[in-house]
Amino acid sequence: MTDTRALLTRLGIDPEGLNPGVYDGSFREGRGKPLESVNPADGTVIARIARASRVDYEAAVAAGLAAFPRWRMEPAPRRGEVVRLIAEELRRHKQDLGTLVSLENGKILTEGLGEVQEMIDMADYAVGLSRQLHGLTMQSERPRHRMVEQWHPLGTVGVITAFNFPVAVWAWNAFLAGACGDVTLWKPASPTPLCALAVSRLVDRVLMLTGWRGVFNLVVGSGAEVGDAMLDDPRVPLVSLTGSCAVGKAAAARVAARFGRSILELGGNNGVIVMDDADLELALRAVLFGAVGTAGQRCTSTRRLFLQRGIARGFTERLVAAYGRIRVGDPLDPATLCGPLIDGSAVTDFEAAMARIRREGGEVLCGGNRLDRPGCFVEPTVVRAPLGFRMSFEETFAPILYLFEVADLDEALRHHNEVPQGLSSSIFTDSVRAAERFVSAEGSDCGIANVNIGTSGAEIGGAFGGEKDTGGGREAGSDSWKQYMRRQTSTTNWSKDFPLAQGVKFDL
Ligand code: UN1
Repeated sequence: MTDTRALLTRLGIDPEGLNPGVYDGSFREGRGKPLESVNPADGTVIARIARASRVDYEAAVAAGLAAFPRWRMEPAPRRGEVVRLIAEELRRHKQDLGTLVSLENGKILTEGLGEVQEMIDMADYAVGLSRQLHGLTMQSERPRHRMVEQWHPLGTVGVITAFNFPVAVWAWNAFLAGACGDVTLWKPASPTPLCALAVSRLVDRVLMLTGWRGVFNLVVGSGAEVGDAMLDDPRVPLVSLTGSCAVGKAAAARVAARFGRSILELGGNNGVIVMDDADLELALRAVLFGAVGTAGQRCTSTRRLFLQRGIARGFTERLVAAYGRIRVGDPLDPATLCGPLIDGSAVTDFEAAMARIRREGGEVLCGGNRLDRPGCFVEPTVVRAPLGFRMSFEETFAPILYLFEVADLDEALRHHNEVPQGLSSSIFTDSVRAAERFVSAEGSDCGIANVNIGTSGAEIGGAFGGEKDTGGGREAGSDSWKQYMRRQTSTTNWSKDFPLAQGVKFDL
């Protein structure tokens, strides 16, 4: 049994009183409407938090702007050292923070711990990167001229995160931004404010000791009060947003209207193709983790399964049998594989989706109902459907898996790519030809295309994000860091002449 009160206290959260919803170098109670953080597994209130108002938002932006001029001139490897010290705190408090993630978000403990590990990995990556941030040298067409491209910090980066990864996605953005010399302002999702507060408490220990308070800031607040202010604020040159396609579309338009930039990580509708020649044991384990992990509430969750005809029947039987063995329940119980959905409205959405699925002729092979007990529990669900089934074009943030039968890879690819979203995808096959085709230009249209591993659980080293309605953003590894900096082309003439490019003559 977790002693919740002791856990919260260790993480700097008051289980009784009102907790600060603003961190901008000091922790303050916001002047907005207080918010209750509710445990989705039993409906109890974990703690209360004083949300930020518009005035608090202004103060937090000002704190970041005050820190930025000094931070941007701090050598990048020394900025990396601050991130490294934060990673040390995360290592020390991994168990507690991971447990809080499970408690507040409802994902099972191993996934809560995994999320904190993802933060640590990201920090280590950003530390290494802080000695790189490479530019280029180009060949000038003019004699004795040197032309380079270099990267400078942008300023304040707004980080709007979703409930489903309440700590890791902040780390993806904040650690890169920090190494790049930016300051960040974090607006976490309303269902998971305590995770954000606990992270900020750990961050503050480092910022206090190193003298860098103001670099990483937090405002817990509503979309209307804080989110919209950030989207419209010209002092925030970059907004990184994780959320639904609908929210992202509206947000991107607002940011673009003031020539701001955005990084969008929106909905996914991720498909797995299992070919006749696949290692079915591997495929089964990957589909189970992808579809049921995090109760189907990852952007990368597996939602569509395309089975080639030869294995379709046998694989379906094995899958349904495996679903029958999944334990749904308390996320902190090690025997549980599927915790609750995040809140009552997520359960309502699940039920509405199931009603439509049944109405439109989907065949429910297992699950399909909410569980009759306290907390937001639903049954992991498998639906057999005809190719092109309309509901399967939409992302329902719940453990619903659509299963289709396909004749061959052509048919699988055609239907795989027909949905509006384009985040993650995978194929299971032992055929080099099928695998290579899947990841080729005529294969998967997603930002992530895997072979013999599932759609979820990406490592931080690669760029993470997707195409089409997923929003086109890329976060975490590869060259994602470039989005957090501004590019500057600089040409120096070290000759005594004044030659113009393109051979233009302009002499007196
Ligand atoms: C998300 O669901 O928003 O690849 C992020 C994964 C995790 C991140 C998911 N590393 O499933």
